[in-house]
Amino acid sequence: MKHFISTRSIARETAVQLLDTTADMADVRQRDIKKLPTLRGKTVANVFFEDSTRTRLSFEAAALALSADVSTFTAKGSSVSKGESLKDTVQTLESMGADFIVLRHFDSGAAATVANSGWVDAHVINAGDGTHEHPTQALLDAYTLRHRLFADEARGRDLAGTRVVIVGDILHSRVARSNIWMLSALGAEVTIAAPRTLLPRDIALWPVTVVETLDAALDSGIDAVMTLRIQKERMNDAFFPGAAEYTRFWGMTSQRLNQVGPGTVVMHPGPMNRGLEIAGAVADSDRSTVREQVTNGVAARMAVLYTLLGEGQE
Ligand code: NCD
Repeated sequence: MKHFISTRSIARETAVQLLDTTADMADVRQRDIKKLPTLRGKTVANVFFEDSTRTRLSFEAAALALSADVSTFTAKGSSVSKGESLKDTVQTLESMGADFIVLRHFDSGAAATVANSGWVDAHVINAGDGTHEHPTQALLDAYTLRHRLFADEARGRDLAGTRVVIVGDILHSRVARSNIWMLSALGAEVTIAAPRTLLPRDIALWPVTVVETLDAALDSGIDAVMTLRIQKERMNDAFFPGAAEYTRFWGMTSQRLNQVGPGTVVMHPGPMNRGLEIAGAVADSDRSTVREQVTNGVAARMAVLYTLLGEGQE
């Protein structure tokens, strides 16, 4: 793997390998000395055309934990032609020595464009492209789930038979897409619960079961409910009648938490709209993996940097 752009056609073995490497990196993060020398002398450039808190900080932490140098570029609302500005930006960063380009961009397909364009030789990591994909989020989510389910016996395992409900704004969610491909590759069964207006048109082609209400998806055999943020910034129409209505039908409330088994966890990639798609009490409960997901995000991104570096040396 030279680049990490998508989980769309990831092989089970590759996914398990990435999860195991994430476990190794999580172990490193538990030690007194939380750093490895692996990327000493290498530079990781974070190129963020779109807002981010967790993903950017976590890539920075991951690069530093592998002893890389880090440079961060943030741009917003650029009015120059998108292709040109992207090309110039990544070439500028590579001219300054970037070996890895971590790209977040508002255009679906931006990371693939940079990886396949021949503009740069650097490894490209997709840190979120429009509504398309967010593969490192899928890795950290799958890792978090596997670790919750199997703890110390997790290594080498996939998620066969695991049942995951993804609820909310599937249409605009790159997190949902990358998670669906990743979870399916690992053998999990994915159920989607969303208002029709927030479902993509080609949902019938996806490896998921779609249900009409969240309550219909919830039973005691569910392992995880993944709540998604309502992406107001990507909505230019009225996609649902109102916040109270949304919460009533699709929100992960304390009452709904009681409908699932005691072992069911609630996930959210952040940033959360507390009280809308997830109740504050649910987010803060010990059934929530929100903070673990953030912690594991650093290990997952270390694992990706580490894996891509290995490829470069072959
Ligand atoms: C997500 C993103 O930006 O795609 N956040 C994240 O990376 N943790 C999800 C979102 O913005 O809703």
